Amino acid sequence: MENSNHIKYIINKKSRKLSEDKISTDFISEEIISKVRKFHNTFNEYEITPLHSLDNLADYLGIKNLFLKDESYRFGLNAFKVLGGSYAIGKYLANRLNVDISEISFDLLKSREIREKIGDITFVTATDGNHGRGVAWAANRLGQKSVVYMPKGSSKTRLDNIENEGAEASITDLNYDDAVRLANKNAQNYGWIMVQDTAWEGYHDIPVWIMQGYGTLIHEAIEQLNEKGIERPTHVFLQAGVGSFAASVQGYLVSKFGENRPKTIIIEPDNAACIYKSACINDGKSHAVTGEMPTIMAGLACGEPNTIGWDILRDYSDVYLSCPDYVSARGMRVLASPLKGDPQIISGESGAVGAGVVSLLKKQSYRELKEKLGIDKNSSVLVISTEGNTDPYKYKDIVWDGDNASI
Ligand SMILES: Cc1ncc(COP(=O)(O)O)c(C=O)c1O
Repeated sequence: MENSNHIKYIINKKSRKLSEDKISTDFISEEIISKVRKFHNTFNEYEITPLHSLDNLADYLGIKNLFLKDESYRFGLNAFKVLGGSYAIGKYLANRLNVDISEISFDLLKSREIREKIGDITFVTATDGNHGRGVAWAANRLGQKSVVYMPKGSSKTRLDNIENEGAEASITDLNYDDAVRLANKNAQNYGWIMVQDTAWEGYHDIPVWIMQGYGTLIHEAIEQLNEKGIERPTHVFLQAGVGSFAASVQGYLVSKFGENRPKTIIIEPDNAACIYKSACINDGKSHAVTGEMPTIMAGLACGEPNTIGWDILRDYSDVYLSCPDYVSARGMRVLASPLKGDPQIISGESGAVGAGVVSLLKKQSYRELKEKLGIDKNSSVLVISTEGNTDPYKYKDIVWDGDNASI
């Protein structure tokens, strides 16, 4: 498995047992996530996003089912991330008002009376695009300000989309992790509220609320599967940047299904594979990838794991993958040009990597990985397309012109 153009994997031998010394997932329990979804349900834009069944592709790959949750439909923002930022801002304001989140709606937070009670707030964050757009969207709807810093090389279209939500946004000369540090420094200097989608020592509550916010997505997906007569998938593929999203879904699955939970596979781009690196070092701690992290998967180009998320992924996830860019590019193309009878799905660079991995498992060169994952004719696989074509130009370069096609 030394071919650098190959998907690399490491298996977690300790994932399946539930024991006392493992980290608690209580903060992402069914009860809490039901409350989160209730809050999201108060947004005018809230709708359950589609869960597609790719029956012909599943047939072709020799598996029982392939389901894809399509987050390009989330709140008209083309990505799932707004679930986290909006819930965290809701929780922050509920705390300031000294009420429980279950007692407030998004409309109430928008009301003049509440706005006057709260006063002016500036929310600040760092982002490759999707998270910042979600924070800017929520702040804007609430009549508040937002400041958004983007890492070097960020897409101009993604910047424009954030500015269109009224944010003061800029592309910095920093990598993602340093852009986070800049946001944090300015939050302290100017009294802004940092809404960051990752945790570190001393920064805990808001990232927990963001992770809880993502829970709406898997809560919906399990409900949608149940409606199709499936209690739970056998395998769930989760892409990771800092790992907040993956840990949120992982934590929920542990809370809900315990030892009967699906197998979970964590996927990262090979140049930003900090969770994979931490699993390889295997000393229980998280380890960073530093420097430039060139990858088409912009949303996953993060070098420092969320400390809360890492504990969950370390204790419960089954396999960690480090993927070259072509895996995601292939996923985008497979979803864009479906087998006859399957739905077409527009999935962006960070959204399609799960589908990319699954689509490759039919190849002889990935037979060993398929076996290690335990994927066979009885498997019901769930992948989550976390974004649509959030950079439409790049999307066309890849899907139409075949950029990043080499295997
Ligand atoms: C589209 C998309 N998918 C997945 C992720 C990964 O989320 P996390 O950074 O919480 O691991 C991101 C992060 O920005 C993203 O934008």
